[in-house]
Amino acid sequence: MALLGVNIDHVATIRQARRTDEPDPVWAAVEAQLGGADGITFHLREDRRHIIDRDVPLLKGVVNVKLNMELAVADEIVAIACDLKPDQCSLVPERREEITTEGGLDVKKHKDRVAKAVQKLNSAGIITNAFIEPIEDQIRAAREIGFDAIELWTGGYAHAKTPNEVDGALDSLRRAIDIGLEVGLDVHGGHGLTYRNIAPIAAMPGFSEFNIGHSIISRAIFTGLQDAVREMKDLILEHVPIEELHED
Ligand code: PXP
Repeated sequence: MALLGVNIDHVATIRQARRTDEPDPVWAAVEAQLGGADGITFHLREDRRHIIDRDVPLLKGVVNVKLNMELAVADEIVAIACDLKPDQCSLVPERREEITTEGGLDVKKHKDRVAKAVQKLNSAGIITNAFIEPIEDQIRAAREIGFDAIELWTGGYAHAKTPNEVDGALDSLRRAIDIGLEVGLDVHGGHGLTYRNIAPIAAMPGFSEFNIGHSIISRAIFTGLQDAVREMKDLILEHVPIEELHED
């Protein structure tokens, strides 16, 4: 069954709306783990718009499951990651004007810069994950650069409006998973996944990790974070691909 990484940035976004000390994303990381999260994901952005430096060592201290740090290819943040040594670093694109991470990182275009960052992170013993769109050239470039894993941007599927668009997006993801596995990468998925749209993605063989933020934190406002995480884990389990149920 694919691991569920819970992205707690949105808790920090609410805190930073008032520049106060609540709600605390570190507390959220503890609650998410109590709800069964297999991983905690956070993004230290260059502009510190949600997660701030104070959170970073505290998250490392309280997270006993897989700690996944998202970061841009930026020297300052790569250095922080190498010191922190989370279990995994996910390289993502970052633009100051965007609302959230939009689309994947173009690892083909920025190959040399990305490769330097990956080399530093690999030398620090950190698993490296490229957040990319489900495009063959990007997957092959990620492999050549030396990433351990790719996280396929599922936004194309999440934002699809018509049944044809949905089918097309699911086909692209299926093909991308096959190529990723064939070249020896672990394949993850994330962005825009919700309680309503997770089923076909969870049922797709080959994904080993999902990273989900907005939908889980939104539901947590009404149910509490432990229940919100439990519900998403149950949905993933309910739709686990048959071939993976029979493994072992
Ligand atoms: N994966 C990556 C690499 C992301 O940047 C994000 C958004 O921060 C997510 C997953 C989670 O996306 P969402 O908040 O839409 O679930």
